Amino acid sequence: MTRSSRPIMTARPTMTVVAAVAANGVIGADGDLAWRNSADLRRLKALTMGHTLVMGRKNFDAIGRPLPGRRTVVLTRRADWAADGVTVVHDAGAELDAALAAIVADTGDTDVFVFGGGEIYAELIGRADALELTEIDAELPGDVFFPPVDWAEWTEVRREAQDGFAWVRYERRPGGDAHTAN
Ligand SMILES: NC(=O)c1ccc[n+]([C@@H]2O[C@H](COP(=O)([O-])OP(=O)(O)OC[C@H]3O[C@@H](n4cnc5c(N)ncnc54)[C@H](OP(=O)(O)O)[C@@H]3O)[C@@H](O)[C@H]2O)c1
Repeated sequence: MTRSSRPIMTARPTMTVVAAVAANGVIGADGDLAWRNSADLRRLKALTMGHTLVMGRKNFDAIGRPLPGRRTVVLTRRADWAADGVTVVHDAGAELDAALAAIVADTGDTDVFVFGGGEIYAELIGRADALELTEIDAELPGDVFFPPVDWAEWTEVRREAQDGFAWVRYERRPGGDAHTAN
């Protein structure tokens, strides 16, 4: 094949779920985070800086603005919803895939972080390649939960114990369902 006839290949995005999860699965309370820790927020920033965040409209409203230095994709079913500096998509399937493919083609950056909240984690965890979880040692009050995880699909590859919580990375086992589930 000559150079000019080679098809244009776009690398597929790598999807990483990032969440802080209490021992009882709680992630949110009254529309806000269930737990805040400055070291964890710094790490979240470092992990995601320069990359793409996919989040639900409720989570975006709670944050209130696009986070600096990152591209923001918001899922909403509202046809008329818009916000400055945000890519809006209306389904978690083909429209999201097209938006992410366009970002990869434009920027060359393939790192996509699934940024919550609960509905978005539940819809996208089946497609994720990795989980970067802050596992909080305590049970917390709240009304939004991380979805059930089939741990047989995941391998723990790193655990960093902190004071009262741990940063844990899981990667999908070979032969798992990434990009075919949901
Ligand atoms: N602990 C953590 O790490 C963490 C991280 C993030 C968020 N949170 C917390 O999680 C809570 C928010 O989570 P949530 O479950 O209530 O809401 P959410 O997942 O942030 O957003 C839900 C909204 O996303 C849109 N949506 C969902 N699925 C869609 C689809 N397939 N197609 C198009 N739009 C779709 C809908 O927006 P419309 O209603 O506009 O149609 C839906 O109401 C907050 O308490 C937040 O603080 C915690």
